[in-house]
Amino acid sequence: MEFTILGRTGLEVSVAGLGCGGPSRLGLRANKTEKDAILLVRRAIDMGVNLIDTADVYGTEEVVGKALETVPRNRVVISTKRLPPLGYPDPAAELKCGLEQSLVRLKTDYVDIYHLHSVKREEYAVVLEKLVPALFQLRQEGKLRFLGITEAFREEFGHGMLQLALEDDFWDVMMVGFNILNQSARTRVFPKTLQKNIGVLVMFAVRRALSQPARLRHVWDELKAKGLVDAGAGAGEEPLNFLLRGAEASSIPDAAYRFCRYEPGVHAVLTGTGNPDHLRQNLDSLLKPPLSDAVTKRLKEIFANVDCVSGD
Ligand SMILES: NC(=O)c1ccc[n+]([C@@H]2O[C@H](COP(=O)([O-])OP(=O)(O)OC[C@H]3O[C@@H](n4cnc5c(N)ncnc54)[C@H](OP(=O)(O)O)[C@@H]3O)[C@@H](O)[C@H]2O)c1
Repeated sequence: MEFTILGRTGLEVSVAGLGCGGPSRLGLRANKTEKDAILLVRRAIDMGVNLIDTADVYGTEEVVGKALETVPRNRVVISTKRLPPLGYPDPAAELKCGLEQSLVRLKTDYVDIYHLHSVKREEYAVVLEKLVPALFQLRQEGKLRFLGITEAFREEFGHGMLQLALEDDFWDVMMVGFNILNQSARTRVFPKTLQKNIGVLVMFAVRRALSQPARLRHVWDELKAKGLVDAGAGAGEEPLNFLLRGAEASSIPDAAYRFCRYEPGVHAVLTGTGNPDHLRQNLDSLLKPPLSDAVTKRLKEIFANVDCVSGD
């Protein structure tokens, strides 16, 4: 495994983080058992991953807690998240109570990164007023170490909320949607995160469109119909198949993870899976060298105007 410093947190994290949500939720959304999910987390740890991302709504905090029971606490960086209902009379109390419950499920006294989960642009002002003071207090109490925020990338493809959050100075970590299909974070998010030394975790590197050919075809046709991708690119073959020519990449997910890993401003890429073989392949991919300059340039050109899909 390779490690990097997660921006101003100073945390040393593996360049590959295990995402315990997404379509797989460690396999619990398919036919996997809790025992399988625990084994998957342990397998990731054995392969050198020290960054584990979960959330109360994923239903995987308990699995993570059980999987990490035997791992020294300072050997792992635990990231979790929640967004209490903002319309409740006291969302800050909900947030504090939610973190207490997460700590119990995770079997720990503190989380390293606590994110406000999937915040939309129109929610940001309320978050600022009602939840950020509670986060400061929880940090003072030692229940969380660093403040994070994640965007609602499935609905806000253009990083609207993060652009507001980037004006503030207290976010230590941001979870950002970025992939081959929607590279808009390159100009809208990463210049500022780099300037402020904010830790960046990439989500949606592969998701469904870059792991399921039929889904990729659907997204591709939609972008083509909107005139957002060069109509000649990939003509006569499956979209992005040029990535598989020669020795460039072993699969579309392989290319997709590597494309994200080497983007300036990205510290770690989250990979979500319930499949032990995929886990192994994805960690291998994230440790491979970057795609060639020519292919990276081509991918940047093809998708230069796209900011209307998440890749889900
Ligand atoms: N707003 C938010 O805060 C937010 C939103 C989304 C995600 N996240 C976080 O980001 C993490 C990463 O997102 P993600 O889980 O969507 O991860 P991802 O790695 O981008 O995509 C996961 C999907 O790709 C499939 N896949 C993975 N490796 C594959 C391979 N080698 N070959 C074929 N298919 C493959 C998985 O299915 P298999 O199980 O079959 O491998 C799953 O359907 C999440 O787990 C979560 O922790 C946060």
